Amino acid sequence: MKRTILSVIYFLVIVAVITSCNSSNTKNTDNSTVVNDRKWWKEAVVYQIYPRSFKDSDGDGVGDLKGIIAKLDYLKSLGIDAIWLNPIYSSPNDDNGYDISDYRNIMKEFGTMEDFNALLKGMHERGIKLVMDLVVNHSSDEHEWFKQSRSSRTNPYRNYYHWWNAEKGTPSPRYSLFDINHDAWKYDSLTNAYYLHYFSRKQPDLNWENPKLRTEVYDIMKFWLDKGIDGFRMDAFQFVAKDTTFPIFPLGYEKDFIKYYGMVNPIHDYLKEMHKEVFSKYDVMSVAEGAGNSFEDAHNLVDADRNELNMAYAFDAVDIAKPEGYSVVKLKEIFTKWDSAFAQKGWLSVYLANHDQARMVSRFGNDAPEFRELSSKMLSTFLMTMRGTPYYYNGDELGMTNIRFENIEDYKDMPTLNEYQHQKNIGGDIKHFMETIKFGCRDNGRTPFQWDSSFNAGFTTGTPWIKVNPNYNTINAAAQEKDNNSCLNYFRQLTRLRKENLALVYGKYTILDKSNTDVYAYTREMDGKKLLVILNFKSTLSTVTTGIDVSKAKVLLSNYSVPGNNTKLRPYEAVVYELQ
Ligand code: GLC
Repeated sequence: MKRTILSVIYFLVIVAVITSCNSSNTKNTDNSTVVNDRKWWKEAVVYQIYPRSFKDSDGDGVGDLKGIIAKLDYLKSLGIDAIWLNPIYSSPNDDNGYDISDYRNIMKEFGTMEDFNALLKGMHERGIKLVMDLVVNHSSDEHEWFKQSRSSRTNPYRNYYHWWNAEKGTPSPRYSLFDINHDAWKYDSLTNAYYLHYFSRKQPDLNWENPKLRTEVYDIMKFWLDKGIDGFRMDAFQFVAKDTTFPIFPLGYEKDFIKYYGMVNPIHDYLKEMHKEVFSKYDVMSVAEGAGNSFEDAHNLVDADRNELNMAYAFDAVDIAKPEGYSVVKLKEIFTKWDSAFAQKGWLSVYLANHDQARMVSRFGNDAPEFRELSSKMLSTFLMTMRGTPYYYNGDELGMTNIRFENIEDYKDMPTLNEYQHQKNIGGDIKHFMETIKFGCRDNGRTPFQWDSSFNAGFTTGTPWIKVNPNYNTINAAAQEKDNNSCLNYFRQLTRLRKENLALVYGKYTILDKSNTDVYAYTREMDGKKLLVILNFKSTLSTVTTGIDVSKAKVLLSNYSVPGNNTKLRPYEAVVYELQ
């Protein structure tokens, strides 16, 4: 069961990186110059689109590029600056596009290269930048490189992947996140050898030690950057470098596999080379999924003077949400710790959800009808008022919730289905497993976007690839457009607030009433401007002691229409003050 939880939890994690632009310095109120230069990707709100579930234009039940094009004005209206698009390249879809069979083509279900060009143009016309997923820890086993590689031991592509010849004996164990048996080595009788796959058997790991492979990757990056895209989110990047002597790890290593697999040497040499060959030639951003095991690892990835990446995202905050709840003090500690580690150097990303996790409001808020809107707005307030680049997941602006499938047949996520099979094979506690995935499975975050109250929430005229959440009759964009107090309109106010207050991007962060178990309160200050943010993370009346007199302060935004009491907060109350 521990392994189950590990695999499920892995998805309850992830983060980001991107690249550069104009430069000028910004000052803190304490008059120390912030070392962080101004950059577009620091000031951007990044909105993530899961294309498979966003909008279907042709009735095949799968979202597509033309669907996104049809919604460009909606996206513009959100006030976001950049879109991170999950993989749209050719793929047999073992892992919904994270298994790429052709890096220079568009997945048939999603459309054509012409559609892509039109999408990019439409975004740029609206001042929205495009960040694409770069999945190069592994490819699909249906990629031509792998087909060649497995065909013979002497094939020129053999060294594009990691092979272990069987006459050397069985390779030392490696943990696979997605495999039914958690075994990352798959025996292939064709050449009597094992290949390595940290994810599924259909996702063989690429061999970054091979300079030819690295050159191929840089060429692929340039292919897309030359089309004018604005950056890459680098999938599972902390795993690309491997100790190819494959030493034996101590028993139980899989419980802490990132310690063994993450940020192995010479990852920084690869990144420096990638920077020189690719990133240095473009004004784009880069964000890595995974920030290693320590602040030192994270700094080594993102500090500007190292010329590697712009940002990374760590998993520890998203990991704390559990079916039984989570500690608000712990959440505050994690965000505060990361903020202070990057206050002077490097840059952070801030997020609570993405395509690898269940819905933000169901995990960190409260999706009961009386609290869903309030808690969703409160969490959005948090994301939009912290230092760092916020990554905001599509549908969260509506307060979309977990679907909580009862039957395994309704789940589509390959690792979840594999883990279900694994649990059956080992006689695991299936009832417990089903409960775990109702809360944490990433399919909860992948149900179709709820556009309106028409058939299938307006997502498709066909049969959706995954069921639509039945609550679309009440939770949908069309209804929220008409309601000034909706989550959607509140999110628009938040993006505006962030744009109008640079202190929310760069300003010094100071936590208040640290040990308060219910309320998260902090100030953000810069150039003489001071904002106070107070967030009640609980469904009860909660007390906070900030020591700040707000009698003369201006309320910039609140999720309650009637002003409250600044020390006694109503359920999930969120208030942003400008202090005088
Ligand atoms: C990353 C992606 C996830 C994918 C995995 C394998 O964690 O975010 O969706 O399944 O990599 O590519």
